Amino acid sequence: MQTQSPWEHTLTFFPQFLAVLKEHTSPDATVAVIGASDGKFVLPLAVAGYRVIAIERDPQALHGGEVQLPGDVNAHAMGLLDRLKLEELYDRVQVVEQDFLDTNPFDTLCDAIWTSCSWHYSANHHRPLAEFVARMQLLVRPNGLFGAEFMMPVEQRHHLTEHYTSPERLSRHFANAWTVLLTLRTGEFTERAHVGRLQDHTHRMGLLLAARTPK
Ligand SMILES: C[S@@+](CC[C@H](N)C(=O)[O-])C[C@H]1O[C@@H](n2cnc3c(N)ncnc32)[C@H](O)[C@@H]1O
Repeated sequence: MQTQSPWEHTLTFFPQFLAVLKEHTSPDATVAVIGASDGKFVLPLAVAGYRVIAIERDPQALHGGEVQLPGDVNAHAMGLLDRLKLEELYDRVQVVEQDFLDTNPFDTLCDAIWTSCSWHYSANHHRPLAEFVARMQLLVRPNGLFGAEFMMPVEQRHHLTEHYTSPERLSRHFANAWTVLLTLRTGEFTERAHVGRLQDHTHRMGLLLAARTPK
C-alpha cells in the first residue's frame, strides 16, 4: 500500500477477525466498519476484495488535516477519502460521514460488522453501551459475523463507565440469537505514544467475535 495510517502500529485483534471472516463469508461479502477512522481496517478489507461500509463521525479522519505526532512533530495526515482514491479502492467502499448512533437502519443487511476501540469515546457515553451493541447487531444478516475489539478498564475513571467493558459483560448482549465464537483479552500492556495520545500509555483490550444464528 502506498499510504499509511498513523494508527498503523497500535495493537489489534483484527487478524483474528479476518481469519473468522474468511471462514464465515464469501470473498465479496459486505463488511461494515464502525468508527472507520482513516482506514487502518477499511483498506485491508477492500484490498482483500470485500465491499466495505465505513462509518465515521470525525471529519478529520475522513478528510485529513494537521495532526500532532509524538516527539513534538506536526504533520499532515491523509483522510480516509484521499487514501481510498490513491489506493484506487474508492469503488469498493461506501463512506458514511455520520455518528453511528444517529444512523438509520440500512436497506440491506451486512455479512459482517467490525469495530475497533470506538464505543469508549466520550461522545458515546450519553447513550448506553447496549444501544451501540444492539445497533451493530441489527445490521448483521442471519449467519453473519459480529466483531468488536474494545478497551477494558485500567484507570479508576474507566470503572465508572460501562463503555470500558470486558468479554464477560459484553457476552451478555449475545445470549439470544447469537453464538459467541471467540473471546480474547490482553493483560495490561504499554502502548507506545501515537497520534491522539502523545505519551506512552497503558491499555487492556478485549475481543468478542459472534455469529448471528440462522433464522
Ligand atoms: C480508536 S479510533 C479507531 C482507531 C483504529 N485503531 C484505526 O486505526 O482505525 C476509533 C474511531 O471511532 C470513531 N467513533 C467513535 N464513536 C463513533 C460513533 N458514534 N460514530 C462514528 N464513529 C465513531 C472515532 O471518531 C475514531 O475515529
